[in-house]
Amino acid sequence: MRSRVRLGAALAVVGLFLLSLITVPASAEPIAPYTSFRPGQEWRDTAGKVVQAHGGQVVPATDKRGKRIWYWYGEDRSNGYYDSPGVHMYSSYDLYNWKDEGVVLRAMQSKEQFTEDKYFAKLYKRYSAAEREIVWRDLSTNKVRTDGWAAPSILERPKVIYNKATRQWVMWVHSDGPTTPEMTSTYARAEAGVAVSDSPNGPFRWIDSYRLNRVPSDSVPWCGTSSAFDPAGGMARDMNLFVDDDGKGYIIYSSEENRTMYISKLNRDYTYLSAAPDKAVQGKDFVRTLPCSQREAPAMFKSEGTYYLVTSGATGWDPNPARYATAKSILGAWTDQGNPIPGAGAANTYRSQSTSVIPYDRENNKFIFMGDRWTPNDLGNSPYVWMPMTFGEGGSLTIGPDTEWSLKDLKPYKRWTVDTVLPDHVWLRDTSNLPAKVAVTTGKKTQTLAVTWDASTVAQPGPAMVRGTLADGRTFTRSIAVVPHNLRYVVNAGGAATADWTRTAEVAATEGSLLNSVPEQPVGVDPKTGTTWGFTGASGTYGGPADGLYNTLRWAKNKESLVYDFTGLEPGTYTVHAGYWDPWPWANRAASVSVNGTVVDAQRLFTTTYTAAEYPNITVDTSGKITVSVAPTRSPDIQLSWLMVAKTG
Ligand code: GAL
Repeated sequence: MRSRVRLGAALAVVGLFLLSLITVPASAEPIAPYTSFRPGQEWRDTAGKVVQAHGGQVVPATDKRGKRIWYWYGEDRSNGYYDSPGVHMYSSYDLYNWKDEGVVLRAMQSKEQFTEDKYFAKLYKRYSAAEREIVWRDLSTNKVRTDGWAAPSILERPKVIYNKATRQWVMWVHSDGPTTPEMTSTYARAEAGVAVSDSPNGPFRWIDSYRLNRVPSDSVPWCGTSSAFDPAGGMARDMNLFVDDDGKGYIIYSSEENRTMYISKLNRDYTYLSAAPDKAVQGKDFVRTLPCSQREAPAMFKSEGTYYLVTSGATGWDPNPARYATAKSILGAWTDQGNPIPGAGAANTYRSQSTSVIPYDRENNKFIFMGDRWTPNDLGNSPYVWMPMTFGEGGSLTIGPDTEWSLKDLKPYKRWTVDTVLPDHVWLRDTSNLPAKVAVTTGKKTQTLAVTWDASTVAQPGPAMVRGTLADGRTFTRSIAVVPHNLRYVVNAGGAATADWTRTAEVAATEGSLLNSVPEQPVGVDPKTGTTWGFTGASGTYGGPADGLYNTLRWAKNKESLVYDFTGLEPGTYTVHAGYWDPWPWANRAASVSVNGTVVDAQRLFTTTYTAAEYPNITVDTSGKITVSVAPTRSPDIQLSWLMVAKTG
């Protein structure tokens, strides 16, 4: 039996060697030193080999001579998904050029290694048989394959923090694998595992892995129906670590089947939680946050007293939009701040998934986003995507772009805010009621600066983000209601009296002739104005008063059209504005829109982007009527977010 195991292991080693030749360019050609970051491009170490530090993190430290040195820890994926050699570390003085420091936490191939491999024999010599079982369970990324395949263990997203009190380097890892030998799932255990070392170079000695904090099953709504979503399960998958200015350590992880984030305080040694899960108190020992928002790949940093948490969605190796949240207190309330990436990179984080943020120069607020562009068929060559992070008004975060850049592109930032309160609305395409000067506080200094307003940001009615540019080039945005002049009707399809509907109607009413007094009604007499208006067509509604004009809607049934009749209009020229949005974009719906029987929009597509359309030059005769009809042009039923009817001539 023993020799069979050995032969198996030897064959596996040969196999791995061949595999590594195929999957990773093994050639160790010397390369010219790098002087820039090239997101998504091959990155070789100083010996010419591709860097193996995926799902990783860069830790600042000081070398023996007192110089700033950086350690990059990450998954060694040189063998692909299975058989990871362990956690690899590289060191650098400039963040561009990385010296291979080897595998600092070694994975195991066979239990014999506890006696026959000097590294394991020495490291675990004081471990009992039961403790060795734990080490084998968690570190066996390559289960011996002599008597059939067994699902191996998973070591992902390793992170390291230095503990000043114990002078130890502490590594936490997403430790996963099957929960029984027969099981083939590599993500059933859902735990966080911990290892320690006296040196940043290892060897890291494995301690154990654990399920973490939890809340009682009946204390919150579950984020799904199966038992995996039980908030009392304590699951921990994608994770990261953070040490606060007061020296307290935290572990941040995706729990409840990747639906909800938890942030848990670590004990003084950083080797376990500050309190066992059955004793831990929410708000003191941990926080359950961003519930049911399905975020993973957490990366935390602190800037100007605010905590930031960048996350990805949960779509396996496929990239998805990033989001970030901020908090004033790490175990307090976190506020979602949306996607930090504008434009082309927004949909998939420039084809990457967050893994960490490098605190390059905290004093000047220079931080670096670290991401992985996973290539699941060739994980070992998954490119690294490091991008600059910039801050705008009030510490708002922007990540990217993914073009070549260098450290000198990171500009110092001091938190600033525009203090002048803007009016809550503007007229369509007219920024004249916005101030020409605003008070701006930068750090502790307040000054008055001229501002120009971007009229294109208020070129559509409805809720908008108006953008101002300060005299010195800084830009900021504010949400504002954009209202067309001479509105006769403002309809929130679906009928919810949302705050933005109410405000728009109030502003319109100051001009005197609004003919509807409720957000929507079936065709009939308006309860206040006595005018006949409203919708027909079999339909249902979506959203409620806490939502907005766009994300509340009326949806048609049975391929019917939605028809809105408006009467009581003085003869003249009108513009109809319509708002569209789709919470179910996969339906791929499309509509033909007609006004008074004339098609004004032959193929209106419905997407997840709030979109306003404008149908001008509509002539109303003495009948005083406008009829807007939205009809499906293909099989899915159609819907509508809002309508506004404005007199233009
Ligand atoms: C991702 C996760 C990675 C890895 C991958 C496996 O969602 O962030 O760390 O676990 O799934 O499919």
